[in-house]
Amino acid sequence: MSLRSYPKVELHLHFEGAAPPPFIRGLAKEKSIDISKIFDEHGGYAYEDFDHFLKVYEAACTTLQTPEDFYRLTLAVLEESASHGVVYSETFLSPDFCGGGDLGAWREYLAAITEAADQAERTMGITLRGIITCIRHFGPEKAKAAALCAAETMGPFIRGFGMAGAELVGKPKDFAYSFDMAREAGLRITCHAGEWGGPDMVADTIRDLRPERIGHGINAIKDLALVDQIAEQGIVLEVCPGSNVFLNAVPSWQAHPIEKLRERGVKVTVSTDDPPFFHTTMTAEFEHLAKTFQWNEDDFAELNKTALEAAFCDDETRARVAKRIEDKL
Ligand code: ADE
Ligand code: ZN
Repeated sequence: MSLRSYPKVELHLHFEGAAPPPFIRGLAKEKSIDISKIFDEHGGYAYEDFDHFLKVYEAACTTLQTPEDFYRLTLAVLEESASHGVVYSETFLSPDFCGGGDLGAWREYLAAITEAADQAERTMGITLRGIITCIRHFGPEKAKAAALCAAETMGPFIRGFGMAGAELVGKPKDFAYSFDMAREAGLRITCHAGEWGGPDMVADTIRDLRPERIGHGINAIKDLALVDQIAEQGIVLEVCPGSNVFLNAVPSWQAHPIEKLRERGVKVTVSTDDPPFFHTTMTAEFEHLAKTFQWNEDDFAELNKTALEAAFCDDETRARVAKRIEDKL
């Protein structure tokens, strides 16, 4: 079986960050918004470093203005993911980018996204679930509004709460109120940490926000006692190696710590983060893992098992996706 058609489970995908550049260019044209500066001469997203990436990301989001835009985005993203064998995807959704954090507006965006996701499940054989994400550099007050949106719309589709954005802004405990509110409402918890921050940031995030999963977490490797703690607590890492290499969070695929983390007993999963921004796909991630660390179908089966066990969906969905994977193998 080709690596492209091999069935895959992806847990860490920023929804707006998965928007194909032609899709965003099309919306910009329809709405007469000039965002030509965010594209390079080949039509891809253009930026210098991580901070600039966040600005380009937010500029791209200015074209996403209505629930109908998100309906179309959902179909575009899921079509692309399904074409790389993804059968289950968890995506980060930010009410900040869907109606500015207003609960009433967010409900309308969510209705459009779930309608498109249901259609994609029927026609493309891919299941989507959402994790509401606050944006760290927007600050703790906006995070509370995002957590409220999460608590109010938790259900079969919205399963978790998390935080993305500029990791070096503020401290995890600044956001504890929002994470506590989300947890008390019954949402599952993940949080970006250790992509740019060091092991202390990962340790503080675990202590103050109590996530079951961590987005990236790769800098934990600089403190082996912390790695052992993560392994013992069964915290799952949503590792995005192609993103880390492209953004220079690690110098190369060879230098990426995913293999060392796994060997030391950490539960690792693999995702694309913001695929068109980092010129990656789930197929490319698998190909690099095969080439760099000689991962084979047994390793990929283990990846799927870890990811599906760590998925925030309900057990009925988990069983349906497991069967879908089995049928494809
Ligand atoms: N938002 C989108 N992609 C991100 C990343 N890799 N890290 C933090 N925030 C993000
Ligand atoms: Zn991310």
